[in-house]
Amino acid sequence: MILEVINLKKYFPIERGIFRTAGGFIKAVDGVSFFLAEGEVLGVLGESGCGKSTLAKLILKLMEPTSGKIVFSPLLANIRRSVGIIFQDPFLSLDPKMRVRDILREPFLAHKLEVSDDKIGELLGLVGLDGDLLRRFPHQLSGGQRQRVCIARSLSLKPKLLVLDEPLSSLDLISQKQILELLLGLRIKFKMSYLFISHNIALIREISDRIMVMSAGKIAEEGKTAEIFNFPKSSYTKKLLEAAS
Ligand SMILES: Nc1ncnc2c1ncn2[C@@H]1O[C@H](COP(=O)(O)OP(=O)(O)O)[C@@H](O)[C@H]1O
Ligand SMILES: [Mg+2]
Repeated sequence: MILEVINLKKYFPIERGIFRTAGGFIKAVDGVSFFLAEGEVLGVLGESGCGKSTLAKLILKLMEPTSGKIVFSPLLANIRRSVGIIFQDPFLSLDPKMRVRDILREPFLAHKLEVSDDKIGELLGLVGLDGDLLRRFPHQLSGGQRQRVCIARSLSLKPKLLVLDEPLSSLDLISQKQILELLLGLRIKFKMSYLFISHNIALIREISDRIMVMSAGKIAEEGKTAEIFNFPKSSYTKKLLEAAS
């Protein structure tokens, strides 16, 4: 087990009127429990606003939970090092003033680790990018290339877990397909676990071993990918699948 989440909750206090609910909180994550096995890809499927990104931020310790617990495997002892993050918009997660070479060197420097140009070249190769991109700035790359740079950066410290929050949503269909293939290959090569968050049913189906369907901060249903698609149990999942077919 790489990760276990127990009855996790994140309530945001409501400051102004229009979204007022009983109790005055937005229950973004409302009693979520699950585990993630070593080397497993767990898909988190749900509509916009159901709490997926909040769940990701809690796991990444970018935010404190209201209550509940996250138990990390000793493999993830140092979260900043052992968990990689990929967000939806690679443009926002790359410093526009840094060249690709410096972006890729940054995690090593942040952890006071040595880094050679060979190492940087190796990272680029892993994500299928050419060495002559090293001198470019993010705005001189295509969307797909930018997301590849983000993936390369996240691989630099050999993470055991990648948290991917809508990693393909800003890309065109061809790039989506290519990056999906890349992620599938890297997962096997480095024996990583993925928490793969998406509202895109087809993508989730292709990459996940197991799927968790989220609705309004709760888990509507969880099961092996084939079970969820062939024998959905909750009415919410059935509706989602119908809407997509
Ligand atoms: N920092 C925050 N403060 C207040 N409300 C928030 C905050 N972050 C998210 N929310 C609310 O929590 C709910 C879940 O948001 P989010 O986790 O971003 O959903 P998703 O990623 O599934 O679209 C939404 O209603 C959103 O408006
Ligand atoms: Mg989100």
